[in-house]
Amino acid sequence: MTATLIKGTEIREKILEEITAEVADIKEKHGKVPGLVTILVGENPASISYVTLKIKTAHRVGFKEIQDNQSPDIAESDLLALIEKYNNDESINGILVQLPLPKHIDEKKILNAIDPDKDVDGFHPVNVGRLMIGGNEVKFPPCTPAGIQEMIVRAGVETKGAEVVVVGRSNIVGKPIANMMLQKGPGANATVTVVHTGTKDLAAHCKRADILIVAAGVPGLVKPEWIKPGSCVIDVGVNRVGEKISEKTGKKIAILRGDVDFDAAIEIAGFITPVPGGVGPMTITMLMQNTLKSLKYKLGI
Ligand code: GUN
Repeated sequence: MTATLIKGTEIREKILEEITAEVADIKEKHGKVPGLVTILVGENPASISYVTLKIKTAHRVGFKEIQDNQSPDIAESDLLALIEKYNNDESINGILVQLPLPKHIDEKKILNAIDPDKDVDGFHPVNVGRLMIGGNEVKFPPCTPAGIQEMIVRAGVETKGAEVVVVGRSNIVGKPIANMMLQKGPGANATVTVVHTGTKDLAAHCKRADILIVAAGVPGLVKPEWIKPGSCVIDVGVNRVGEKISEKTGKKIAILRGDVDFDAAIEIAGFITPVPGGVGPMTITMLMQNTLKSLKYKLGI
C-alpha cells in the first residue's frame, strides 16, 4: 500500500484563495483590510527568508503589510517601545516578532508585550490559556498546530476517538497540538499521548498511533517499523542535512529532511505529509487566517 500524500502546497492555495475573496468582500463592505507587521531583529538567513515569505503572502491576499527590520543591537527597551507603537496603531491587526531573538533580549518579555488581541502567532500567555480552555475561548491558535489540524481534517482523517501520539513537547508545536487534539469538538476529540526525550519506550507509543505527529527536530527519528499500517503521519521536522545546487535556479539550496524515514513510511502509512511541501506551507497560511480573524473580531463580523 502507498500512502496518500497530504500536500500542504495544495491546501495552502485553496485557503489563500478563500482568504483573498473574504478580504475583498470586507474591503467593499467595511472599507478596511487586515494589517500585519512583521518585526525582524538581525540578519539570521532562515528568519529573513521566513519573514520575506510572510510579507509576500500578506501582499498576495490583499493585506496591508509592513516589514519592520531592526538592527541586531537594538536595545530591549526600544523593541518594547516599537511593539507599543504597533499595539496602538489602529490599522494593524497582527504583530509578529520573528524568533529567535538575539541573546541580549528577553524573548518572554517581548512576547508578553504584544497586545493579546493582535498576537496572531498565538504565543502570548493569554492566548495559550484561551487555547487550553478551548471552544469559543480560542482566538488565535498557534499557526503550525492550526495548520496540522487543518491538514488532518481536509484529508478526511477521523479524529474522534483516535489514538494521537505527539512526538516532542515544544511550546510552538508539541504542547499546543496535543491540547487542540484533545478538545471536545470537530477535528479533535482524540486520546492524546505526548512523548519526549524523557519517554522510556518511544517506539511502543508510536506503534499504536492512528495519527502520529512528529515535531522532534531529529532527522529520520521515526523508523518505519514504528508506524501503524494505514495510520496518518504528520511530519513537522524541517532539518537541513546538507546543500545542493538547484536545477531550476543554479543556486545553492538546503537539502531538507523530515523527522520520519519518508521513503519507507509511505509504503506503510495511510496518509503522510512530505518534507518539504507538507506542514511548512501551512504555517504562513494560518498566520494569514489569524490576521484576517483579528480584523473580523474587531469589526464584530
Ligand atoms: N520562528 C520560527 N517559527 C516561528 C513562528 O511560527 N513565529 C515566529 N514569530 N517566529 C518563528
